Amino acid sequence: MSLDAQRYGPWAVIAGGSEGIGSALAAMLADAGINLVLIARKVEPLKQVAAELRGRGAEVRTLALDLTDPAMLDGVRAATDDLDIGLLVYNAGASHRTGMFVDWPLEDVIKVIRLNTEGQAILAHHFGKRMAARGRGGIVIMGSLAGNAGSPSVIPYAGAKAFSQIFAEGLWWELKQHGVDVLHVVVGSTDTPAMARLGIIFRHNEADQPEDVARITLDNLRNGPVVVVPSMQERFEMLATIDRGAATESNGALVMSNTKQTWEKAD
Ligand SMILES: NC(=O)c1ccc[n+]([C@@H]2O[C@H](COP(=O)([O-])OP(=O)(O)OC[C@H]3O[C@@H](n4cnc5c(N)ncnc54)[C@H](OP(=O)(O)O)[C@@H]3O)[C@@H](O)[C@H]2O)c1
Repeated sequence: MSLDAQRYGPWAVIAGGSEGIGSALAAMLADAGINLVLIARKVEPLKQVAAELRGRGAEVRTLALDLTDPAMLDGVRAATDDLDIGLLVYNAGASHRTGMFVDWPLEDVIKVIRLNTEGQAILAHHFGKRMAARGRGGIVIMGSLAGNAGSPSVIPYAGAKAFSQIFAEGLWWELKQHGVDVLHVVVGSTDTPAMARLGIIFRHNEADQPEDVARITLDNLRNGPVVVVPSMQERFEMLATIDRGAATESNGALVMSNTKQTWEKAD
């Protein structure tokens, strides 16, 4: 993997950079000579990843905040206004709940939608403007196959991921006129700590590893607007049908089998 540190550096911001795909990306960016601002809620994992990245020679700032907080941008600006940011990765976004939509607490519905729509729009607006002015940079948004058809048990998440993809497609077109690359990554089952917290334990070879997704992301920064991880390409094509009922039945079966354990608990 060769990464253009002139184009995407000297600093990258990873929203959701303390574990899983986010920390795997951070390690690869550090190895490419790019410094990092890592955002997440929990302080300890942030500190641990930062120490590891400093060991690789990168400068690191950490920012513990909730991306769904209405004052989020103030915190991000306080930590980054003096830096030249060449890459924004919006990684945070997994659904922290599954189950029948009407049984979800309304506050969780709003939180998942905010995290996956408002959060990325706010940061893409802020950093996209600065990158367009400097004439180079990149914005990555992590999506999900769940966003390509109705996805029972994670409805707010799937609807919000559909927003992400269409949002990224338009942004890709506008910002490429100014030298800024935009990429939406359609992620499939990936073995991350967040999935384990949700009660989803993948068997060997059942899921991608965070490093696989990170590598595909960095290899495709110039190939926007959308890249689909190889393990999901066949399903992604299947879901692009005019028969939305069939797409939803098929997507639903996959999501329900992945979320079976928590769904059974919710029953
Ligand atoms: N894992 C999969 O199977 C899978 C499948 C399809 C798509 N994806 C997508 O891949 C991306 C990464 O998923 P993931 O499984 O690693 O889980 P995740 O819950 O999105 O966690 C990734 C990072 O985001 C941070 N984060 C989560 N919520 C946050 C919030 N409200 N404010 C600030 N930081 C927050 C986490 O740290 P804290 O908890 O400390 O905040 C962590 O550093 C997501 O966009 C997800 O939708 C994942």
